Amino acid sequence: MSAQRLDGKACAGEVEAELAGRIAVLRERGVEPHLAVIIVGDDPASHVYVNSKVKTCARLGIRSTHISLPTNTEEAVVREHILSLNAQDDLHGILVQSPLPKHMDEEALTDLINPSKDVDGFHPQNLGRLVQGRTDGMLPCTPSGVMRMLRWARVDLEGKRAVVLGRSRIVGMPAALLLAAKGADATVTVVHSRTGDAESICQEADIVVAAVGRPNMVTASWIKPGAVVVDVGINRVEDDSRERGWRLAGDVDPNVGEKAAWLSPVPGGVGPMTIAMLMENTVRAAEIALTADEKP
Ligand code: GUN
Repeated sequence: MSAQRLDGKACAGEVEAELAGRIAVLRERGVEPHLAVIIVGDDPASHVYVNSKVKTCARLGIRSTHISLPTNTEEAVVREHILSLNAQDDLHGILVQSPLPKHMDEEALTDLINPSKDVDGFHPQNLGRLVQGRTDGMLPCTPSGVMRMLRWARVDLEGKRAVVLGRSRIVGMPAALLLAAKGADATVTVVHSRTGDAESICQEADIVVAAVGRPNMVTASWIKPGAVVVDVGINRVEDDSRERGWRLAGDVDPNVGEKAAWLSPVPGGVGPMTIAMLMENTVRAAEIALTADEKP
């Protein structure tokens, strides 16, 4: 078997085309969707992600404010930025790029973001709604991008066994909640670093979402023939054959493509979807703000 490509780039293109119409409607009504991105430090990968978010905003006609701060910035400075962005009426989304430098309390800063501007969906109010089974709020971008890609490929999740590898706040846990939510209806197992036999659990899965940050960890022997495999990993691995000395590798060994029915590529899979869903959350936040303004 040779897996079909879960093409995040194509799916993101469809999301963007749909957003273009919604952005045009907002603009006609005098609203320019506006996203602020805060990045602290000089992690090269994080800067690549943030630049790509800002570039996508420009392409779609979403205004962006890019706040880049040095590693030794005090947490209080980031706090002040967040509070000031919360108070800005013409700004609809706030994102603080993760990871922050070690001296900062990422959760405490996330708690400060106005939940209606929390386009990352990481605020406890938004994650709490998801735990309650309410999937109509601000959803974390990578997991909702995974769900959108599965829908795009018409993967039937109802009653299927899904295994999520990784239990992070950003991907693993919200992905598990979305897969198990009413309407998706998969039966979900979360595998993590203390799981005894990840491989045999994975072998039972109809759907595998790998989000562990370990290059090529999931090999063909882990995968049931015909499974759907979503690779969330974006790892830099040394590669002397490339001029820059590295290349990107997912958490899933490309040989899995010989066994799976669908496999998302890295790059070009989940990455573009994360950005597309961030754009969608920003547009949604602008629409909700406009509706609230128009209420008598
Ligand atoms: N770092 C890696 N992924 C993400 C994401 O989706 N949002 C933020 N804020 N930081 C990240």
